[in-house]
Amino acid sequence: MNDLIVPADALRDSLAGLVDGLPSRQAAQAVERLIATYRGATPTDAPILRDRADVVAYAAYRMPATFAAVRSALGAFAAAVPGWAPGSHVDVGGGTGAATWAVSDTWGGERPVTVLDWAEPALALGREIAAAHPALGDVRWQRARIGPGLTVEDADLVTVSYVLNELTPADRAALVDTAAGAARAVVIVEAGTPDGHARVAEARDRLTAAGFRVAAPCPHSAACPIAPGTDWCHFAARVSRSSLHRRVKGGSLAYEDEKFSYVAATRLPAAPAPARVVRRPQLRKGQVLLDLCDRDERLHRTTVTKRHGDRYKAARDTEWGDAWPPAGE
Ligand SMILES: C[S@@+](CC[C@H](N)C(=O)[O-])C[C@H]1O[C@@H](n2cnc3c(N)ncnc32)[C@H](O)[C@@H]1O
Repeated sequence: MNDLIVPADALRDSLAGLVDGLPSRQAAQAVERLIATYRGATPTDAPILRDRADVVAYAAYRMPATFAAVRSALGAFAAAVPGWAPGSHVDVGGGTGAATWAVSDTWGGERPVTVLDWAEPALALGREIAAAHPALGDVRWQRARIGPGLTVEDADLVTVSYVLNELTPADRAALVDTAAGAARAVVIVEAGTPDGHARVAEARDRLTAAGFRVAAPCPHSAACPIAPGTDWCHFAARVSRSSLHRRVKGGSLAYEDEKFSYVAATRLPAAPAPARVVRRPQLRKGQVLLDLCDRDERLHRTTVTKRHGDRYKAARDTEWGDAWPPAGE
């Protein structure tokens, strides 16, 4: 029966219901407050998500985007480890549970899941939203502070999504090491900004030093070819805008692109993409320009023209963040 439920749809419906239940002005104010807080100094020494209005605002305003980003990262990871599905999952700094939904959407089925966070209102709302999805009915929503005392139970998969940004450098490093010690696969997602990329790159170095292989997005586990400070590796996930988005941000666009950076690394045998498309492909008359990060550890541009036949058709369908060439070619 669970397989009949499409988690992405159930999540959207559940979040829409949340906003409908909140007075319009209150919702907009809570979102404004969240945006202001996230613009301010992080890390903070107390939870940002303090009460129900904060977490409803977070869930309605940010969770569709963090879900979409994690879903996209997990899709790339799953493609690199075909046939594997996590038998257990821990989501650290999981908040309202976006990554648990994304894992369920990627692999289906049920598995033991633990969400760790220090914000009780976020965990409570996460539990409430998860009630819309039978596979998430048994998730353990557990209060925990990321810091020197953090322990993470052993799990096939540990996710850390949009959390490193809120931690001190020492706590970031310790969290990544703890995740590496607990998991067979670690997926870390951050905002697609220069700073987000820098945090992901640092985490990637720690994971490879711990013996992990990078499964996605990178085609290899050697040093990242982007010289620090010169550019940033990021991708985009399309997110439908809710009525709350339109209320807060105005405009009538039906969607937004959530920019994110990520690394998915594992101790499992993995087959990373031969190359990854690292910018939006440029379509020209009779040609497609693809910017690639390649297995040979360099960034370069390739031009695919009509003369390449099927490969040209494939290039026209290829999107930013996809593997190149497509699987099966
Ligand atoms: C931006 S939210 C991301 C939530 C969720 N992972 C997602 O992708 O939607 C950051 C989360 O990290 C949690 N967090 C930040 N610092 C923490 C700490 N020191 N200990 C535990 N949780 C923390 C916050 O409470 C919040 O739920």
